[in-house]
Amino acid sequence: MRERLLATEKVKAIDWRDARLYLLDQRRLPAEEVWHACESATEVAQAIRAMVVRGASAIGISAAYGLVLGLKARLAEGDDWRAALEADFEVLAASRPTAANLFWALEQMRERLGRLKPGEAPLAALEAQAISIHQSDREANLTMAQFGVELIRRYQGNPQNLLTHGNAGALATGGFGTALGVIRAAHLEGLVECVYVNETRPWLQGSRLTAWELAGEEVPVRLGADSAVAHLMKERGITWVVVGADRVAANGDVASKIGTYQLAVLAMHHGVRFMVVASTSSIDMTLETGDDIPLEERAGSELLEVDGRRFAADVEVFNPVFDVTPADLIDAIVTERGVVDRPGAAKLAALMSPKRLH
Ligand code: MRU
Repeated sequence: MRERLLATEKVKAIDWRDARLYLLDQRRLPAEEVWHACESATEVAQAIRAMVVRGASAIGISAAYGLVLGLKARLAEGDDWRAALEADFEVLAASRPTAANLFWALEQMRERLGRLKPGEAPLAALEAQAISIHQSDREANLTMAQFGVELIRRYQGNPQNLLTHGNAGALATGGFGTALGVIRAAHLEGLVECVYVNETRPWLQGSRLTAWELAGEEVPVRLGADSAVAHLMKERGITWVVVGADRVAANGDVASKIGTYQLAVLAMHHGVRFMVVASTSSIDMTLETGDDIPLEERAGSELLEVDGRRFAADVEVFNPVFDVTPADLIDAIVTERGVVDRPGAAKLAALMSPKRLH
């Protein structure tokens, strides 16, 4: 499975080359593939804020490389680079609030700095750490794909209709995707009849990114309006909703792309299984429940305009871009460390325990 998945790889969101960060500009997909170069921590933070790069893991990986760019500049400026680098940590941490991966990646970088040996070159150490964060995300995607596909197969050995929301694919990660990694693997195993993709208003991660990724790999895909989902579940025999996550609280509540919560409610009503695929870097054990997860709200223009052209009435807008799905609506959280069935606080604590041996 691993080799077959690797052979299908077509899209990547992040490229670290010649000590520069290149991001595939996701604002311009699927119309054109343009790479956006970043040369400083501030430029990376701006790119994250503006959604040049988006998706929980991709944001974390980019921030790690952003810190490498920051350190390079700080070292050139003078001696007190450690103090000066704090400003880069801050600007990157402030770029978006919801995805745990951003803060997790910055913490990994801080921890690596704390382990510098006397005489060790800080820049080489941080660059190696960022590359390792990137590679381990890719590995986690491959492992989760294998776990997730087994859940789908166990439910039914025949081709099934799956539903996804947002973009949890190669564009959102350092590899194949979280939810889309599972869906890609299920397709390779002959378990997919059709993948239904929600448009995902207002930023259209589904119609612009997910549909593009899947169609590019010849996975049978059908795009639908977000508001068609109840009807879709009733009429088209969906077996699984498969989505990614941006932050998972200690009790298994999941913050994900706005609209995921309503999918989970509808899935429960229609007897459709609900799978969340997320690496452990999205799990935040410091937050007891989903109520504590900071949920980003973005500019009203995302709802009022299309391609810069205003089409809506001149009114105030409510534009939260994430919501929280309660743990009791989730059948399984698939991580690279294993699958948590019917998630709850005790199971998440066992998964995240440092004493865990497998
Ligand atoms: O606002 P975005 O585009 O960054 O939202 C991300 C999603 O679509 C996801 O839910 C995704 O991050 C989950 S998989 C890494």
